Amino acid sequence: MKNQLTLAIESSCDDTSIAIIQNDWTNFVVKKIVAYSQISDHQKYGGVVPELAYRIHEEKIIKLIDEIWRSQINEVDTISVTAEPWLMGSLMIGLTSAYAIGKFLNKPVIEVNHIYGHIFSILLERDITKIKLPMAVLTVSGGHNEIYIINHQNKAKSDNISDIYIDNVDSLTDWNNTKISDLQIQKIGHTLDDAAGESFDKVARMLGGSYPGGPWIYNQSLNGKHNTDYIFPRIRLDANRKYDFSFSGMKSCANQIITKFEKSGISPSEQDVCDICREFQEAVNDTLIYKWQMAVQDFDCKTIAIVGWVSANDRLFEKFLQKFGIYYWDNLTNIVEWNTNDIYICRPVRKLYSTDNAAMIWVVWLMS
Ligand code: KG4
Ligand code: ZN
Repeated sequence: MKNQLTLAIESSCDDTSIAIIQNDWTNFVVKKIVAYSQISDHQKYGGVVPELAYRIHEEKIIKLIDEIWRSQINEVDTISVTAEPWLMGSLMIGLTSAYAIGKFLNKPVIEVNHIYGHIFSILLERDITKIKLPMAVLTVSGGHNEIYIINHQNKAKSDNISDIYIDNVDSLTDWNNTKISDLQIQKIGHTLDDAAGESFDKVARMLGGSYPGGPWIYNQSLNGKHNTDYIFPRIRLDANRKYDFSFSGMKSCANQIITKFEKSGISPSEQDVCDICREFQEAVNDTLIYKWQMAVQDFDCKTIAIVGWVSANDRLFEKFLQKFGIYYWDNLTNIVEWNTNDIYICRPVRKLYSTDNAAMIWVVWLMS
């Protein structure tokens, strides 16, 4: 594995994140990471405004690079940067900065896929020996909502989904010496409309909540009660869409509930809002879990991971643990993994690694 000092840059959406990392041969430990989150800049618009996002990246990126890197400017060996996918203007700021620094220092620039970053964010700062293959990864954020199956290349040669789970005898993986090219990374499902995070944002906006909607809905739901007046549909889709998601029906349902209040001339009480948030969150989480669990069973997965910022939703993680018969813990927010029945269930060890961050971009470079 590479033992170099790396500058990593992530700017694909509304987080400007810079990390400087020396691979120390132990469990993907991050030395230094700084970030600027644009949440407060976009809050008044109720979502990310692409034109504003790239202008803020432009303003912040050099300051952050300077802050993290001034003392080690001549020591860096390589630069890794997010190249795709996401907001073109935002990506261009990271890429231009990376290439300018690379040119100046005569160092290589390695372009990295953002989604692979989320998938392998699961390796950061944990006991990686617990992560066995095949692994089902649910990537879920404001822009992504997909299920991936990760397996050894030689265990999964077929493009045909039903042929993938051939033989899982040797599921141990030496992650320190594993390259992405050693793995089969197969997307088996995606959302047909909104991503879960996006639907949280939209429903929060309808209810007069703040951006980002996920944390707002979660906080309201803590005071919510089960209320049969506000039951949201769980959209399963038909057999040929077995692992795909759809959240637009839930959004329409929220709209109908709010319209009903408007027509009656009565505003929803605080308790109504909390109950709606609770029921909506339950429906989104049930849908995510239903599809994810099917994939886990069908592909005989040894590891189940959830990544992306929605993985910070404690109720989602709690419900998933409950599916595996786990009900007792001290403080759910600190629970980021569980080992049960030969299955390892996990999410990124820090909330920072669930969001768009440069550390995950470094991991992908390391495995390239
Ligand atoms: O990963 P991220 O920063 O952006 C993308 O790469 O798309 O995810 C942002 C999304 C927002 O839609 C936000 O509402 C959602 O993640 N989110 C949550 C929670 N925290 C953030 N959704 C549900 N529950 C949460 N606790
Ligand atoms: Zn992302």
